[in-house]
Amino acid sequence: MSIQFDKTTGLITLHTQDTTYQMWVDEQKVLHHLYYGPSVGDCDLRPLEYYTDCGFSPQPAGMSRDRTYSLDNISQEYTGAGLGDFRVPAIQLQQADGSHLADFRFERAEFVPGKYKLEGLPASFGEEEECETLELVLGDAHSGLCLVLLYGVFEKANVIARAARLENKGEKPIVLHKAASACLDLPFGQWELLHFHGRHCMERQLERTPLSHSVQTLRSARGASSHHHNPFAVLASPDTTEQTGECLGAMLVYSGNFKMEFEVSQMGSTRLVAGISDDFFAWTLEPGQSFTTPEVLFSYTSEGLEQLSAQYHQFLQNHVVRSSWKNKPRPVLINNWEATYFDFTGEKIYQIARQAKELGVEMMVLDDGWFGQRSNDLTGLGDWFVNEEKLGCSLSSLITRIQSLGMKFGLWVEPEMVSPGSQLGQEHPQWVLSAPGRNPVTSRSQLVLDLGNPEVVDYLDRVLSQLLEENDIAYIKWDMNRNMTDVYSHALPKERQGEAYHRYMLGVYELLERLTTRFPHVLFEGCAGGGGRFDAGMLHYFPQIWCSDDTDAIHRLKIQHGTSFGYPPISMGSHVSASPNHQTGRSTPFATRGVVAMAGAFGYELDLQLLTQEEKEQVRSQIATYKRLQPLVLEGRYHRLTNAMEDSCFTAWQFTMPDKSLAAVSVVCKDPGANPMPIHIKLRGLAADKRYRESLNGNVYTGAALCHAGLTLPIMAGDYPALQILVEEVQED
Ligand code: DGJ
Repeated sequence: MSIQFDKTTGLITLHTQDTTYQMWVDEQKVLHHLYYGPSVGDCDLRPLEYYTDCGFSPQPAGMSRDRTYSLDNISQEYTGAGLGDFRVPAIQLQQADGSHLADFRFERAEFVPGKYKLEGLPASFGEEEECETLELVLGDAHSGLCLVLLYGVFEKANVIARAARLENKGEKPIVLHKAASACLDLPFGQWELLHFHGRHCMERQLERTPLSHSVQTLRSARGASSHHHNPFAVLASPDTTEQTGECLGAMLVYSGNFKMEFEVSQMGSTRLVAGISDDFFAWTLEPGQSFTTPEVLFSYTSEGLEQLSAQYHQFLQNHVVRSSWKNKPRPVLINNWEATYFDFTGEKIYQIARQAKELGVEMMVLDDGWFGQRSNDLTGLGDWFVNEEKLGCSLSSLITRIQSLGMKFGLWVEPEMVSPGSQLGQEHPQWVLSAPGRNPVTSRSQLVLDLGNPEVVDYLDRVLSQLLEENDIAYIKWDMNRNMTDVYSHALPKERQGEAYHRYMLGVYELLERLTTRFPHVLFEGCAGGGGRFDAGMLHYFPQIWCSDDTDAIHRLKIQHGTSFGYPPISMGSHVSASPNHQTGRSTPFATRGVVAMAGAFGYELDLQLLTQEEKEQVRSQIATYKRLQPLVLEGRYHRLTNAMEDSCFTAWQFTMPDKSLAAVSVVCKDPGANPMPIHIKLRGLAADKRYRESLNGNVYTGAALCHAGLTLPIMAGDYPALQILVEEVQED
């Protein structure tokens, strides 16, 4: 049993293979958090708690004689509100009597085989033998507000999934102003925060900072998880490295406004509160209604950041991503965006596809501009009918031509948006997020449809289903090119506008649920101006996401490095584009662009007809190499051999097959230097006593030699040279 509840002591213990998580229900029925860390076996960890009379920390009603007992100092599983815990709260609310108080006391524990589900929300899943669910029911006796804490314990995966449900069992409405998915109070330890900030074209830049006696907040109020912050963070001990040390991850399975808060308290404990952002949030719970928070995935290891990433990669692939594509090799695709932008005809697309097919590419993806009046980004969104005049043919005849080359066909859509002058926008102004009497803010000249309105979801479902039914489309790129403003839903009464952001996300998830269920064979790739909605919520529906609109190979080193901490490499859409690069103007060798793009779901994004003969030959060999490497990208362990954020002269990473029979090392030299010092790398994850042949010189070494003595690389000169080294087990007779 991975979940234990000792009714005599009140101890509740969750065990995964390598970790222990312990809680305690005290005599006052307050639920304490005692421990989350490496497995400690069957122990009672209550003696670790520290009680003291801490001035100005108040006592709950009835406890005034014991000044050492205060909610302000107790490590808690979830907070109440307004009753003497002055740290960052998990909940904020207004009761019908106008007060802001909630006093949650433990009522009961329930055990459910398998994994809980969250109505209307993406969440992890698992078979009964992989996961057990614990539901802890707490209640605020005064109002009848009930708090159900959900725990999904994935024993082998070393992941504990958490969520909360708030049920109004009272007789009067309650307004929630904040309802976090989880609160995690770490009683001891000094922690550093690793988080992934960024901007459009430079997403998920790793930053590592010590936590201090303050509140550090990661948040998005943009309506999408955003380029700006990612809903994934790691707490690590100051001495934690890639290969050693304690670290704890928290990943929200949510794609909208979020907040992760980290506070070191006056007594030195650390609190983490994660969930939907309270920015603009207000949710009314009428009697009998409930509110379910998104899920947060916790994982812990004492074996360093690489191991933590491996835990998340495997967990997402096995228990979050649902697509039938998740474990399958992805077709090598070519996308016309950077080749043509809006300037194309059906014939031009066919010619790009023809050349690509000749070089081994398997799928042609037609990006933005094929529909409505869309010859630039000012118009057309919402009018999802084919612009045959522009294409010079019907979509189905273009698809047939491309398929006759032996290629699959993929298509770009941006269903959540509408251009102001479009037919859809004119016909349904009430479907657009916009406040009465105000002109809404535009971004990329577009407005946002109100997916919180079920009519909009039904409409998009019909239009997109028709597109997929009438055309043989193997792949959809689902884009979303602006953040949200004017978030006012005409489908909600004015006093419930605080629900509009979250209802929007529920509508997006409902639409994705329907489409991915109805068209399970379609490979969906998420996108939001590149990686502006790269999160576990989207990965539940889309097995891959376009990692960034920045295709510059050297910038991609950092972007992909940051992304790799939480997300599986195969989930990162990654393409070879033209040089000089369109975003940075930088020139890089064709080979280097290939090496970098092969760290994810590989493809091309340029007009291959314009390449030199030598580059065309490289395309052929890159595709052959990727076919060889893709099993590693799909299921291999990812090793960050260097820190791409550091100003070093090279960046290196490695994939190793789970059975350690094959590994691939990639090295990009960012600054070859004059009279250079040798580049030396140590490999990781190989079997010490197996013998391996490396493709650099054909030498054979033991795994131990490659990991401890390493490899010295040949001198690399010129602009941004790169190397790929295959390391293959030698079968001895
Ligand atoms: C943003 C995406 O990230 C690009 O790849 C491209 O699809 C454009 N949108 C099209 O408008």
